[in-house]
Amino acid sequence: MTLPYSFDSLFSPKTVAVIGASSDPRKIGAKVVTNMQAGGYPGRILPINPKGGEIFGLPAYKSLDEVDVSIDMACLVIPAKFVIPAVEQCGQKGVKFLLIITSGFSEIGNLKDEQEIIRIAQKYGMRVLGPNIFGIYSSASPVNATFGPAEVPRGDVAIITQSGALGVSMMGKMKMEAIGLSAVVSVGNKADVDEADLLTYLVDDPNTAVILMYIEGIKQGNKLVEILPQATRKKPVIVIKSGRSKRGAMAAASHTGSLAGADEIFDAIMKQCGVLRAESIQDAVDWCKFLSFSPAPKGEKAVIITNGGGIGVLASDACEKYNVDLLDDLGTLKDAFSGAVPEFGSYKNPIDITGQGGIKEYVDSVNAAKADPAIDSVIVLGCETALISGKALAGTVEKTLDRPPEKPIVYSFFGGQGIEEVTTEMRGQGVPIYGDVYAAVSCMGAAYRNARNRAKVQGDLGVLDRLADSFDTRTIEAVIKQVRADHRQFLLAHEATLLAKAAGLVVPESVVARNLDQAVAAAESIGWPVVMKIVSRDILHKSDAGGIALDLRNVGEVVDAYEAILHNAKRHDSKAVITGIEVAEQVKSGTETIMGARRDGSFGPILMFGLGGIYVEVLKDVAFRALPLSENEARSMIREIKSAPLLWGVRGEKRKDIDSILDSLMRVGALLYRYEDIADIEINPLMVYEQGAGAKAVDLRILLGAGDKGDQG
Ligand code: COA
Repeated sequence: MTLPYSFDSLFSPKTVAVIGASSDPRKIGAKVVTNMQAGGYPGRILPINPKGGEIFGLPAYKSLDEVDVSIDMACLVIPAKFVIPAVEQCGQKGVKFLLIITSGFSEIGNLKDEQEIIRIAQKYGMRVLGPNIFGIYSSASPVNATFGPAEVPRGDVAIITQSGALGVSMMGKMKMEAIGLSAVVSVGNKADVDEADLLTYLVDDPNTAVILMYIEGIKQGNKLVEILPQATRKKPVIVIKSGRSKRGAMAAASHTGSLAGADEIFDAIMKQCGVLRAESIQDAVDWCKFLSFSPAPKGEKAVIITNGGGIGVLASDACEKYNVDLLDDLGTLKDAFSGAVPEFGSYKNPIDITGQGGIKEYVDSVNAAKADPAIDSVIVLGCETALISGKALAGTVEKTLDRPPEKPIVYSFFGGQGIEEVTTEMRGQGVPIYGDVYAAVSCMGAAYRNARNRAKVQGDLGVLDRLADSFDTRTIEAVIKQVRADHRQFLLAHEATLLAKAAGLVVPESVVARNLDQAVAAAESIGWPVVMKIVSRDILHKSDAGGIALDLRNVGEVVDAYEAILHNAKRHDSKAVITGIEVAEQVKSGTETIMGARRDGSFGPILMFGLGGIYVEVLKDVAFRALPLSENEARSMIREIKSAPLLWGVRGEKRKDIDSILDSLMRVGALLYRYEDIADIEINPLMVYEQGAGAKAVDLRILLGAGDKGDQG
């Protein structure tokens, strides 16, 4: 994705006009000026204030008209009612970027003024960050055009945040944890610039090694889905998204004026894009620190070194939870640690130097782990004992931690006041040390996930397009045209069947009979048993209307069912227009799966797969992905659901036809991806048989979008 023009005027502006700059230190317009001064901004600050005079030693301009230099960025800190004329003035003056700190727009329902700002900005080719933001800090310049902390430690972590207050407090927290920042950008209402635009810049920003995003709601998720996989291939992207709980989602929605997307979908798509999603701010901060400090692990094998058996077991549990693979080859472990671990200790991973182990044993074991090429990462645990104090443990860190380290290493010390004090002190010095074993291992887990994401083969995203090229386009378009002409959005069963067949999906054989003779003939040609279903644009819930008959085994039963279905349908809705009765092959039972594709409000086209029946209804055991996707990614959806072992074959059952599931899934995805008219497709169930025996789309539901083509004949 390329940006319309350089974001350099946002991240390293040469001139910044502060419209609403003030000498009153209590005002935001004062803080922005003094923050830029305190941060050593090397460019020109141009305070704009109708009173003129001097503001914090700088000559103030009474209006923009008086400024005789070109302006890269204008920061607006004036009340909302003055913003629109100021934007117009900025446009006339040739300002490149607008930073609108002012609140009072879409977040309180005032969408009209926000749209007007963007209309004017676009007229002049200006980009807009905000409104409703706390500003931007960028170390490239450096520029601190925020009303956040004046002092920002420089480093390589960039923060993009939708919440201003959280952004300001994260800056404070990062400072405490000795995490340096390359950028902090508040996106506010995202009227123009959004996370995806900023990522596009930051992914190639040489000052940034790790990106942290706080997201409340997604507006144009398809832009994110495009840039995120590219970004996560180059640097770790950590996301904290609020709105996991229903109540949280409501709070987030009212906070920003944008709806949080459904959490499971967000979660799945972030995984697909290689993003590390943090549960809490603390996790996110811990991961930022660790990932900016540590190199990526070169291989999967980790060791735990501990002086306490219990804490070692806890760490092993945490390793399982966070997918950190422990080295368990006893020969290798013995070779690595035989000179370092005391005789009474254990070589088995966790390496236990026991409570009797002192600094020497610690240092020797950690150094042995660092030196051994079979060991890719090290988790060092320490319990305070009578023999080893907090200070002594701190000494082991000094003797074993290289800056930068050659392989990932984390520390976790546990004990009383002494331990707490040294841990806090070392954290402030940038040491990756954590009081809780799970926190330490979760950092290591993040490093592994990040390394795996980078190594993941991207896959061929053009596969859906090529598949759609093989479809019978004429038939698909004719069906869509027919449905539009009939002013409907839903497809009748026989239309959905026709469309699905044209897309290569395997559907049960069926015929729409217009009279009883046709119904009998159809049943005889399809073969017994058959099912019969009412076909009517006015009857969507066929079973509720008594419009379905199953397991019909002879002509007599077809005749009876025909009469009964017509009678029931008339009774259900006497005005219903009845197209006919569908006679279809009764499919053999198999494993019921469900698949679907739809246009998500946040992310655009998405695909879903799960096992049918209770697995989807009760257990909600389904997998989601954004489109387009590679065949491998679709295969991973099938593997990912918890009930997947039922497809591989359990308890003597034969393996199911997984290739047929994959084929149907890709076809459903390709249909939605190619035909913009289609808003929703669901196959429930797709009946899957044993390997080699295929799968059949038994029940299909296809909906068109509202579209503007309703009147086309
Ligand atoms: N051009 C230049 N200066 C102007 C101006 C204009 N068109 N209109 C007003 N000003 C000056 C004022 O005279 C004042 O200067 P002074 O202190 O010398 O008198 C200064 O701009 C600020 O105006 P004021 O009316 O005092 O506003 P304020 O400072 O109380 O509030 C905002 C302005 C932008 C801070 C406020 O409207 C706001 O939106 N606050 C919320 C910000 C926020 O929380 N953002 C989101 C964070 S996540």
